[in-house]
Amino acid sequence: MTENIIPHNHTIKQVDRINKLGYRPLLIWFVGLSGSGKSTLASGLETRLFNEGINTYILDGDNIRSGLNKDLDFSDESRKENLRRITEVSNLFVDAGTVVLTAFITPFKEERDKVREMMGDNYVEVFVSCPLEECEKRDVKGLYQKAREGKIKNFTGIDSPFEEPKNADIEIPSHKLSIEEGVQRIYDIVIGRIREG
Ligand code: PPS
Repeated sequence: MTENIIPHNHTIKQVDRINKLGYRPLLIWFVGLSGSGKSTLASGLETRLFNEGINTYILDGDNIRSGLNKDLDFSDESRKENLRRITEVSNLFVDAGTVVLTAFITPFKEERDKVREMMGDNYVEVFVSCPLEECEKRDVKGLYQKAREGKIKNFTGIDSPFEEPKNADIEIPSHKLSIEEGVQRIYDIVIGRIREG
């Protein structure tokens, strides 16, 4: 499909944008089961970074699965396509100079490896390692109960797999930490990477 597409060599490069901004944009990719706390942690971290004058943006189900990816369901193939598109969009945002925080379950190692490969040094993976039992106990959206009752099919952790990350850059056991503690742990690691310019 890209056979006759010849990229234009634009004058302004990412390095020019980094020099102008004075910091390095990153993709901070949160991985974890539904209800593990990905969005809450991403939001807390975004507030910290944004208040320090860093351009930030959160990509999550609210702005992706209801818009760009509203044609996708929760089959394995759709999840892969969901994450492929999110990776592409994130890459554009980072190239444009934004620190992107994504909050998607990202259940498959293969998709996580692809993001890491595409983003290189501009990627930080945060595994929010809340166990299934705890996520199910919280059941903030009532979806686990529906999945147990068979009213939702292909629910991650119930009848759809979650391959636990083994090489995440940061692990946050959200069932053992307060939100503030979790945010602080991530902040302490990413701020150095962002500020190194
Ligand atoms: S994935 O696997 O990365 O493509 O999933 P993601 O785009 O993050 O979407 C997960 C959110 O959709 C809700 N939801 C489901 N999750 C898992 N399995 C099924 N079948 C499902 N159906 C709906 C769920 O609320 C997830 O939200 P979070 O924020 O993770 O709790």
